[in-house]
Amino acid sequence: MKILKSFISQRFKSLALAAIALLSFTYNIHAQEGDVAAGEVLFKANCASCHFPHKDMTGPALKGARERWIENSTEENFYSWVKNSQSVVKSGDSYANSLFAEWGKSVMTPQAVNDQQIDDIFAYVEDFVEPVEEVLVSDGPTGSTQEESTMIYWILATLLLIVIGAVGMARGNLSKALKAQNGEVINDNETWGQGVRSWAWANRGWVGVGTLLIVIVLLVIGMLDLMKIGVFEDYKPEQPIAYSHELHAGDLGIDCKYCHNAVTKSKHATIPTTNVCMNCHKTVNEGTTTGTEEIAKIYEAAGWDPEVKAYTGVTKPVKWVKVHNLPDHVYFNHSQHVEVGGIDCAQCHGDMKKETVARVMTTEDLNAVEENKIKFTRPTLTMGWCIECHRQSSVDVAGSHIDGSTEENDTYYGVIHQRLLKDKKTYQGILEDDMITVAELGGLECAKCHY
Ligand code: HEC
Ligand code: HEC
Ligand code: HEC
Ligand code: HEC
Ligand code: HEC
Ligand code: HEC
Repeated sequence: MKILKSFISQRFKSLALAAIALLSFTYNIHAQEGDVAAGEVLFKANCASCHFPHKDMTGPALKGARERWIENSTEENFYSWVKNSQSVVKSGDSYANSLFAEWGKSVMTPQAVNDQQIDDIFAYVEDFVEPVEEVLVSDGPTGSTQEESTMIYWILATLLLIVIGAVGMARGNLSKALKAQNGEVINDNETWGQGVRSWAWANRGWVGVGTLLIVIVLLVIGMLDLMKIGVFEDYKPEQPIAYSHELHAGDLGIDCKYCHNAVTKSKHATIPTTNVCMNCHKTVNEGTTTGTEEIAKIYEAAGWDPEVKAYTGVTKPVKWVKVHNLPDHVYFNHSQHVEVGGIDCAQCHGDMKKETVARVMTTEDLNAVEENKIKFTRPTLTMGWCIECHRQSSVDVAGSHIDGSTEENDTYYGVIHQRLLKDKKTYQGILEDDMITVAELGGLECAKCHY
C-alpha cells in the first residue's frame, strides 16, 4: 500500500514538476547562464544552512534576489554581496543597509564563491520548485526490514493455506459430483464443523503436510528472534521528536560534532540540548515534511513562545530514548577512540546521514560504508565486536591512527613504538606484521573494558 502510494505520488510529482518546469521556462529565459546541477551542490554546501530558495529562514528567500538587486542597487553589488555582504553594507549602499537592518543586523558570513558559481547557485534557486507532496518518511525504509521479513513469512503461510483449501475444495466438489453421478446420497445437512472434520479426514495427506510446514515456519521465526537476544543491532526506538539526521547532518551538512559536542573531550558523545536546536529553530519554525508540528515540540521544551518570539522561562527537557546502551560493567570512552584513535563516527555508527532518528547499525550496515577500514563479523556493540577491532587497529607512530599512517612524532604510543623498534628481536612477535595493534598494547585485557 505504502509502495503504491509513493509510486502514485512520485508520478504525480513528476507530472506536476514537468508542468511547472514548462511554465517557468518562459520566465527564466532572461536569467544568467548557470548550471542547475552544479548550483544545487554549491547551494547545499554553502547556503542551505541559512537560506531556502522559496521561503525565509535565517536569511531571506533567495528566489528573485538578483532582480531585487538590479532594481534597488546594481547587479555588480549583488555579486559583491554574496562574496562579502558587510563590504557592501559599509560602502553605504542603501539596499544593502535596509536588508541588514530588516534582518536584525545578523551578518551573512562571507562566501568563498566566484561569479560563475553564484550564477550556478541562482540557476538552481530560480529552477527550484517547492515539493508538491511529500511522503512521510518518519521511520525510514531501513527500520522496517525486520517487520517486512516477518510479514513475508505470514503471507507465505496464508497463501499456503489458501492453496491447500482450494485444492481440497475442488477435490471435495469433484467427488461430490462423482457421487451424484453414481446416484449416491449426498449428506448436505452436516454442520460446518463436521464438514471441516470430514474434509480434513478425507484430505489427511494435505492437511498433514500443511500443518508440518506451518510448524516449521513458526519455528524458524522463533529461532531468528531468539538469536537476537543480547544483541542490540537494528534497535531503533521511537523518539519524542521526529528528528532527522538525514535532513540535518546530510542535506544541511551540519557537522556531527556541532550537536554531539562532547564527543572529542569526554567519555560521552551526549545528545544536544534544545538550546543547540534553538540556534536555528528560533527562525526555522516549519519543516518540509512535518510542517510546524514537530518543531513546536522544540519550542515547548525550550520554553519559547513563537508568537512573541521570547522565552517564557518554563522549560520541559526532551526525553530522548537512549539507543546505544552498553551494560554498566563496560567502560567505553568516545574521546579515546575519536580524538586519540582518530576513528571516524561512521566506523562504529555507520552512515548516519541516511537515517532519521538513530539506530544501532548492523554489521552489514557498518561494512557497507566504503571508507570503513575495519570490516566486522561480530554483531555491533557485543564484546566480540570491540575485540575484533582492537585486534585489527594499529596504534602506530602517529599516535594511534587507525589508517596506519607513519608520520613520526613523540606521542605516547610513538615513544613505545620507537622503544620496541630498538629491540626488534625481543618484540618480533609484535612487530612481524609491521604494525602494533591495540590488542598488542593491552587492549584485550579484561580490566581495560570492565570495571
Ligand atoms: C550564516 C548564514 C548565511 C549563509 C551561510 C548565507 N547567507 Fe545569505 N543572507 C544571510 C542573512 C542573515 C541575510 C539577510 C541580510 C543580513 O542580515 O545580512 C542574507 C542575505 C542574502 C542575500 C540578499 C537577499 C535579498 O533579498 O536581496 C543574498 C543574495 C544571499 N544572502 C545569498 C547567499 C548565498 C548565495 C549564499 C551561499 C553561497 C548565502 N547567502 C549564504 C545569511 C546567510
Ligand atoms: C569505536 C567506536 C565508536 C566511535 C568511533 C564513535 N562511537 Fe559513538 N558510541 C559507541 C559506543 C560503543 C556507544 C555506546 C556507549 C555506551 O552505551 O556507554 C556510543 C554511543 C554514542 C552516542 C550516545 C550517547 C553516549 O555518549 O552514550 C552518541 C550520540 C554517539 N555515540 C555519537 C558519536 C559521534 C558523533 C561519533 C563521531 C564523532 C562517535 N559516536 C564515534 C561507539 C563509537
Ligand atoms: C544549523 C541549523 C539547525 C539546527 C542546529 C537544528 N535544525 Fe532542525 N532544521 C533546520 C532547518 C533549516 C530545517 C528545515 C528544513 C526543511 O524542512 O526543509 C529544520 C527542520 C527540522 C524539523 C522538521 C523537519 C521536517 O522536514 O518537517 C525538525 C523536527 C527539526 N528540525 C528538529 C531539530 C532538533 C530536535 C534539533 C536539535 C537537536 C534541530 N532541529 C537543530 C536547521 C537546524
Ligand atoms: C542537529 C543536531 C545533530 C547533528 C548534526 C547530528 N546529530 Fe546525532 N543525534 C541528535 C539528536 C537530537 C539525537 C537523539 C535522537 C536520536 O536518537 O536520533 C541524536 C542521536 C544520535 C545517536 C544515538 C544516540 C543514542 O541514544 O545512542 C548517534 C549514534 C548519533 N546521533 C550520531 C550522529 C552522527 C554520526 C552524526 C554526524 C553524521 C550526527 N549524529 C549528527 C542530533 C544531531
Ligand atoms: C573501530 C575500532 C574499534 C572499536 C569497534 C572499538 N575500539 Fe576500543 N580502541 C580502538 C583503538 C584504535 C584504540 C586505541 C586508542 C588509543 O590510541 O588510545 C582503542 C582503545 C580502547 C581502550 C583503551 C585501551 C588501552 O590499552 O588503553 C579501551 C578501554 C577500549 N578501546 C574499549 C572499547 C570498547 C569497550 C569497545 C566496544 C564497546 C571498543 N573499544 C570498540 C578501536 C576500537
Ligand atoms: C575491548 C573491550 C573488552 C574487553 C578487553 C573485554 N570485554 Fe568483556 N565485554 C565487553 C563488552 C562491550 C561487553 C557487553 C557485551 C554485551 O552486552 O553484549 C562485555 C561483556 C562481558 C561479560 C558479560 C557477558 C555478557 O554476554 O553480557 C563478561 C562475563 C565479560 N565481558 C568478561 C570478560 C573477560 C573475562 C575479559 C578478559 C579476558 C573481557 N570481558 C574483556 C568488552 C570487553
